Amino acid sequence: MARSRPSYGPPMRRGTLLHKAGFVLRHPERVPTHLRRAARDAWLRARHRDHVSYYRAVMASDAARSPESAVGGHDGEEIWLRIGRMQFDYLRAHGLTPQDRMLDIGCGNLRAGWRFIEYLEPGNYYGVDISPDILVAAKRTLVRYGLQDRLPHLAVTRDLTFDFLPAGHFTVVQAHSVFSHSPPEVIEECFAHVGRVLAPGGRFDFTFDRTTGREHHVLREDFYYRTETLAALAERHGLTAEFMSDWEQLPHRQSKMRLTHATSAGVEAGEEGAGRR
Ligand SMILES: C[S@@+](CC[C@H](N)C(=O)[O-])C[C@H]1O[C@@H](n2cnc3c(N)ncnc32)[C@H](O)[C@@H]1O
Repeated sequence: MARSRPSYGPPMRRGTLLHKAGFVLRHPERVPTHLRRAARDAWLRARHRDHVSYYRAVMASDAARSPESAVGGHDGEEIWLRIGRMQFDYLRAHGLTPQDRMLDIGCGNLRAGWRFIEYLEPGNYYGVDISPDILVAAKRTLVRYGLQDRLPHLAVTRDLTFDFLPAGHFTVVQAHSVFSHSPPEVIEECFAHVGRVLAPGGRFDFTFDRTTGREHHVLREDFYYRTETLAALAERHGLTAEFMSDWEQLPHRQSKMRLTHATSAGVEAGEEGAGRR
């Protein structure tokens, strides 16, 4: 059976000079904040040469002001709750069960994590993050929602090799709003290693800031990728990519992609000989 061509969603052209000029004209009030952020980031970049150390420092600075803002809930509690619920409802609608074993990459202060922890069987949630500061805030979220008995795992990490985790263990892996803050080498490291910890038939969902124009970053904090680039990178590491077009219907500015083991994708699609590839 022939596999249908993937749909990459409607065009998005960020990063062009025209787009930037248009943004300034539409949002002049945001220019001072952007300049302040640029100055802070230049200072942090000068002190922290590698990306993880730099981004850790960004998170430490943001989390000291407000952990909710640090994970993107600039508009307060309501948005924090809404984005967390969106992640949870989406995976529930895609068949998440309490028996699933979940790895939440870049779990932040458990905006969505607390819902997964509450829903999954005790011990079945594993959150990792590069930021010790945000994991301290994550522990506060656990206390706030009274989830101590669910025995979630939270671990600080410096890389995405997952070398301390068991092979073939996780049925569901997600990284929400993490690759939107990651340079290509961090994403590649994740793709190169996530297949080892993903259970047979398991899935890895991640969001990304999508562009159909030139790939670029803003202050090495926000990164924009083409769908085709990430799909090709995944394929190089034995993973099959699917663009999640139903996510595009939701009020969220990032796009979502799902990776599966190349072989299990073939088996699910009923392709003859898929298991032999
Ligand atoms: C925008 S927040 C999103 C947090 C959470 N996924 C959510 O949706 O609420 C991004 C999180 O990813 C973490 N992060 C960024 N780069 C990472 C990396 N390379 N490995 C693990 N965590 C990372 C940050 O420290 C931060 O907590």
